[in-house]
Amino acid sequence: MLSRRRFIATSVIAAGGAASALAYYKGSSYPKTVSSNAPLKMPPLIDATRDLEFQLLAKAGTTNFFANQATHTLGFNQSYLGPVIRVKNGSLRPHVQNSLSWPVSTHWHGLVVPGEHDGGPHTAINSGSSWQPEMQIAQDPCTAFFHTHIHGRTARDVYAGLAGVIHVIDGKDEQRGLPNDYGNDDLTIVLQDREFTDTGQFNYSNSMMSMMHGMTGDQILINGQLGATAVVPKSVVRLRFVNASNARIYRLFSSDDRPMHLIATDGGFLKKPAAISKLILSPGERAEVLMDFSNGIETTLLSSGDPNEGMAGMFGRALTSFEDVTGFRNFQVLPFSIDDRKSAKIFSIPSDIGGEEPQLHTAKIDRTRRFSLDMGMGSGMMSGRMGNQFSINGEPFDMGKINERVKRSVVERWVISTNMLAHPFHIHGTLFQVIQEGNRQPSPENSGWKDTVLVNDEVELLVRFDHIANDDNPYMYHCHLLEHEDAGMMGQFTVS
Ligand code: C2O
Ligand code: CU
Ligand code: CU
Repeated sequence: MLSRRRFIATSVIAAGGAASALAYYKGSSYPKTVSSNAPLKMPPLIDATRDLEFQLLAKAGTTNFFANQATHTLGFNQSYLGPVIRVKNGSLRPHVQNSLSWPVSTHWHGLVVPGEHDGGPHTAINSGSSWQPEMQIAQDPCTAFFHTHIHGRTARDVYAGLAGVIHVIDGKDEQRGLPNDYGNDDLTIVLQDREFTDTGQFNYSNSMMSMMHGMTGDQILINGQLGATAVVPKSVVRLRFVNASNARIYRLFSSDDRPMHLIATDGGFLKKPAAISKLILSPGERAEVLMDFSNGIETTLLSSGDPNEGMAGMFGRALTSFEDVTGFRNFQVLPFSIDDRKSAKIFSIPSDIGGEEPQLHTAKIDRTRRFSLDMGMGSGMMSGRMGNQFSINGEPFDMGKINERVKRSVVERWVISTNMLAHPFHIHGTLFQVIQEGNRQPSPENSGWKDTVLVNDEVELLVRFDHIANDDNPYMYHCHLLEHEDAGMMGQFTVS
């Protein structure tokens, strides 16, 4: 029997012919290895744990990714990207100012706040204006993310640099036995890929190809740096990964097969570290791992190719597994070197970190909703025109339309499916539990609290919303391949 996916692949070939199928082949953005000995820098740290106030200024500037070329970029408080903001539970008071000549917003991706504080597309901060929400957070420690979210230009503006990181802390990492010395044994690693022109400018492309697969690039930036080396102490080191790429899905592993000990997913700690040999991280996802350098041996972090790239993305998945598809075209992400003058504190992987893993499956399920992430391989696409083919349940995003109305504090089952490409599905205003991926149990990466999950076929979630989102400030659910989101693979919902 033909599988659903193979059926689709077959019918696409039949409808479009091999020639137009080949037109989707993307082979150009295989990342290069750039070598330099520049030590990896951390984003500037704003420690807001005292008064819970912090300032962000969206601005334009230039950044020297290459020694003698200034790239036009955007950032919060600096020329490219933003700071790491350290917060704790309580009443956060951000003050966000926009000095750009177009609207931006600051969506707190990973903070669980009401719709009016969420910073989505309805909360635009116009040119020259500012925004000062006062928002209560009460959640577990985690690595969160923030970025602009103006509908239709999120992808372009995030690509240019409008994104940053948030650490929610509770001051108990010592008891957990976890490294927490910022920039020493606790590293924040913002993963991005970019494509540059000959003159060193970002080469953001609107081509149909980059719409289809999302914009990927052939240069890896870590915290906005090209070709840097992370210098670590001779100890256990904590790596907080944030995939801030527009569209690249990483499958990270170490060159000497050293295990990564997964300690946290998007929304917080696991109960116990899970030793994994590879970490799949799609755009919008975060993960924290421990890596042991106490033996004094250096290693390099690598990634496999993006499963959405090449013919594999379009058709290969019908015929092979995700692992087969990603198992080629490895590239370098980040080399590590050890400096034994750096202060070393933690020498073993803790056996228990005491995170509260999700238990929503023990609750009564109120109802089920289904979301299909659609790319409408219609005649428009085959003839080279992009129309409104990107949608969810066939409906492209419409700022004026509420797609779902959800009741507060009940548990719902959300079933997300795709029949072409793998899409990271993100939900605002909540942390959810993944209960099934295809017909498998969730992988370690998806076993803790999540707000974004890679949907490679079908994924089943349990979700509950504890805050209000009204018609004026609804929450979003969307594909976090930013080009797909901007093109309409997004919906909005209220919680009341
Ligand atoms: Cu990180 Cu609605 O996005
Ligand atoms: Cu979000
Ligand atoms: Cu998508």
